[in-house]
Amino acid sequence: MQIAFVDSAAKPQGCLAVFVAADKKPLAAAAALDKAAGGALKRAMDASRFVGKPGQTLAIMAPQGTTATRVVLTGVGDGKGLTTRSAEGLGGALLGDANAAGQTSLTVVVDLPAGCTLGAADLAARVALGARLRSYRFDRYRTKEKPEVKPTLKSVTIVVAGAAAAKKAFTVLEQVAEGVFLTRDLVSEPPNVLYPASMAARARALTKLGVKVEVLGEAAMTKLGMGALLGVGQGSRRESQMVVMRWDGGKRGQKPLALIGKGVCFDTGGISLKPAGGMEDMKWDMGGAGAVIGAMRVLAGRKAKANVIGFVGLVENMPDGNAQRPGDVVTTMSGQTVEVINTDAEGRLVLCDVMTYAQEKHDPAAMIEFSTLTGAIIVALGHERAGLFCNNTALATQLRDAGATVGDKLWRMPLGAAYDKLLDSEIADMRNVGGGRDAGSISAAQFLQRFVTNERPWAHIDIAGTAWGKGDDVTPKGATAYGVRLVDQFVADTLEK
Ligand code: BES
Ligand code: MN
Ligand code: ZN
Repeated sequence: MQIAFVDSAAKPQGCLAVFVAADKKPLAAAAALDKAAGGALKRAMDASRFVGKPGQTLAIMAPQGTTATRVVLTGVGDGKGLTTRSAEGLGGALLGDANAAGQTSLTVVVDLPAGCTLGAADLAARVALGARLRSYRFDRYRTKEKPEVKPTLKSVTIVVAGAAAAKKAFTVLEQVAEGVFLTRDLVSEPPNVLYPASMAARARALTKLGVKVEVLGEAAMTKLGMGALLGVGQGSRRESQMVVMRWDGGKRGQKPLALIGKGVCFDTGGISLKPAGGMEDMKWDMGGAGAVIGAMRVLAGRKAKANVIGFVGLVENMPDGNAQRPGDVVTTMSGQTVEVINTDAEGRLVLCDVMTYAQEKHDPAAMIEFSTLTGAIIVALGHERAGLFCNNTALATQLRDAGATVGDKLWRMPLGAAYDKLLDSEIADMRNVGGGRDAGSISAAQFLQRFVTNERPWAHIDIAGTAWGKGDDVTPKGATAYGVRLVDQFVADTLEK
């Protein structure tokens, strides 16, 4: 799908979107068109519930006075409420409308509503980003799709005063979309295609963008003493991997930000086997690692002025004659020992060794970790927000604000000594699960916190409920790439300010 920016469009074909502010107030293009169409737009609004609320659309077929065959009135509200995120929503909604109507071409006239805090170029670029993000599909394995269900839209033309500036703003945002798409691809791939080595190979491709990528196999990790990560992978025929991706776009000598991701390419539960129903979902148990790889793709693609290192631990959690058993005691890279009570609580075993490696080898200024860690976070927060566990209030606030800007919403959850106690073991330094089902997400976070050194600012983001979704205005059903835009915005707001 092509996206172009132009200062004016003489003869729009197919779909033409024009903006209408709150209380059915047509902006310039809509007003002109209403006049040319003899008041058809106004009459259509009066014959419907369309009032110009943000994201509301009303299609009018073949009105007079335009070469377009489908005019879509697009609500933008009172202008003041229009944010970058809601502007993206407009683009997404228009793309959805055009495809549903079988259109091949969409022209969007961006008029700036009164009171809007975004500039015209920014608004136009965000509308384009929304359309791009919504256009994503994972159809690699469909060979028999009927033509009538395939998306039809081939070109989007954004008409805006100052098209050159909008195009420039969009070149940066396009890199955001590339990173989001990379993550959505990784998360959507089936587990026979995407396993630790093949996922590492896809991360390695970031080398082309200037990312320094290093892949460690089982021999290297054995030398490092990463007994917890290796224990999870030992029941799999696929070799476990750790990938380190380094982007040095900031000042030399400035301590890096570490991004850490859980990459369980498939989670059967291991010997503590999961039930069959829905187990196929556990292909996306690598969503945290997918988000980290996508975020690195964005930062490198837009040449972020920051030093950031991504670390992902890639394993497959399988039952096997060689799989680890409930009751096994493993020694982590930190030297702490863990009694593995439940082999299905494997994410924390992978992450603790990756965290230790990141801290010992790279001494990061802060660590932000993403993982589809617990079903319990879905019980607590549903699919609306990810759970944020953080030892530093400044970091928590920055993450929450960045998430609100891009729509990757977070809710801070508690940590504390009483929860930590749940992890005490009779025979090792800790067990890998708490008491029963109570506070399952918190005890998982407490486990991870035991591997944070020097009171380093650390955030654990549990994305079990948000990595996969039913779709929204800018996200089709399926992999969401939650976290990619959060990291991008966080880096822009904090490290690049
Ligand atoms: N990958 C799962 C968590 C999960 C569950 C993600 C559902 C997405 C949807 C994780 O490895 C797991 O199995 N966690 C267990 C922990 C328990 C054994 C303490 C869980 O949540 O049941
Ligand atoms: Mn599990
Ligand atoms: Zn898991």
